[in-house]
Amino acid sequence: MQFREIKNNIFYIGLNDENRVIFDELIPLENGTTYNSYLVCGSDKTAIIDTMYPPLKEIYIKNLDENGIINVDYIIANHGEQDHSGTLPDLIKKYPNATIITNAKCAENIKEMLLIPEDKIQIINNNDELSLGDKTLKFIMAPGVHWPDTMFTYIKEDNMLFTCDFLGAHLPFDDLYAKCDDTLYSMAKRYYAEIMMPFRMMCKKYTALVEEIKPEFVLPSHGPIYNKPEFIINAYKDWTSDTPKNLVVIPYVSMYGSTEEVIEYISNKLKKAGIEVYTHDLIRDDLGDLATHFVDAATIIIGASMVLAGPHPAAAYAALLANALKPKAKFVSVIGSYGWGGKLVETITGLLTSIKPEIIEPILIKGKAKESDYASFDAFADTIIEKHKNIS
Ligand code: FEO
Repeated sequence: MQFREIKNNIFYIGLNDENRVIFDELIPLENGTTYNSYLVCGSDKTAIIDTMYPPLKEIYIKNLDENGIINVDYIIANHGEQDHSGTLPDLIKKYPNATIITNAKCAENIKEMLLIPEDKIQIINNNDELSLGDKTLKFIMAPGVHWPDTMFTYIKEDNMLFTCDFLGAHLPFDDLYAKCDDTLYSMAKRYYAEIMMPFRMMCKKYTALVEEIKPEFVLPSHGPIYNKPEFIINAYKDWTSDTPKNLVVIPYVSMYGSTEEVIEYISNKLKKAGIEVYTHDLIRDDLGDLATHFVDAATIIIGASMVLAGPHPAAAYAALLANALKPKAKFVSVIGSYGWGGKLVETITGLLTSIKPEIIEPILIKGKAKESDYASFDAFADTIIEKHKNIS
């Protein structure tokens, strides 16, 4: 594959991975992903920015050979995770003169995780610069988006900002530049939900920094390159804002339909009041869609059947997922049904240790809903409608 030039001797040398079906063994990928890597040819020195996910390293190295890259002076590791740094051991063998340039935290990670020898690494600090001759690389520490070792690399002369995982998307591409359409928006949002949302305040901070830099190109390590960065900057400004939307998300599992019946009744009431409602069947639906709806939700209601004296494990998993992704929701509740007893509500709410929403009085019924239960369902819906009145 011939490397494609982005601008002034800066080339895209990454790869699509359409076959990858799950990331971090956690959340499914709809279309696969990409591992972006870049070759920067200065007048004196050559650098590679980020490398390759190891299962694809043979193709990656073959491409370097076919494009005649016989010498590399620097390999910039913006982040130690193996999908970007995993081919460092191979590259330092292939290019014995190359020095790995990275920050102290990332250096620790690649020494521990990839057994990179210390003498191959040059540590840089925030705002340090490295000359390639007619191009200057500037390193900007960006801890927390999404690992503590994350940094950005900025090429001053070309106004190009390499943002590592930040501002990325799991979306393979053929055209180099992002088509700023609905597909990219939804894939970037899903990606944000899955790996960036737990660090929302840091994402907010670095979105403002990217906006201040005003790069001509934003070049993330997954998904298309932005030659119109305002598309992704504006999206991140919205997703990282403190204000949720008038939206309720209800992940649920219902063994015999009793919990689902209550959820359907309450959803209809909320929708009639103008609230956007998304229900997610935790057994059959895609967890990535649920994570995406967590981004904007003002209220999360977890629906569960009681099984084996506790909430169904799928509902407990949804609570753990919400707790890990740390959505900005202001309100949480539980709707459940039981056959003979157990601890459903307290087990679910007890799993929400890292988010501090207001808990709306849950609904717990024995078996199917009775005529006498509907007054409490109406009151539950009215409480949410009232809480949402202050949300635009
Ligand atoms: Fe794409 Fe954090 O690695």
